[in-house]
Amino acid sequence: MIENIATFDEALFNAAKSAYEKAYTPYSNFKVGAAILAENNQIYSGCNVENAAYPEGNCAETIAIANMVLAGQSLIKRIYIVGNGNEPVTPCGGCRQRIREFSDNETMIISRGINGKPLIKSLNELLPFSFGPDHLGNKNGA
Ligand code: THU
Repeated sequence: MIENIATFDEALFNAAKSAYEKAYTPYSNFKVGAAILAENNQIYSGCNVENAAYPEGNCAETIAIANMVLAGQSLIKRIYIVGNGNEPVTPCGGCRQRIREFSDNETMIISRGINGKPLIKSLNELLPFSFGPDHLGNKNGA
């Protein structure tokens, strides 16, 4: 269990903000940063990286997940997503499914516009009746 969520969320926000500042977004100018609190209580972050061939761009959540997996982790306890503006930047449909792959019933998604307030939702609220590893007989993609 997370003992001090406020402390974790501040650290996660700071990591997401640092990633946001590094985003490569010459086409949309819409920066996103994401930071994951993994099972080992370490933080893994990512930013969106766009491409001149537009569909080849990557979302911030995708990069953060890749960094988590590279570290040998496979459970997202919390993911904090920060993007431009005041309104919460909620993950796109594809990223909800990517988060789903590494989630459990406790996984929380915190969405925030860099100048706004955080919106805290469970993955199940953002992606109800989802398809996941269990449908293929895998507990956590293993
Ligand atoms: N973007 C993300 O990084 N994550 C999301 O969940 C939503 C969208 C990025 C993709 C693209 O670089 C920019 O935001 C505008 O769509």
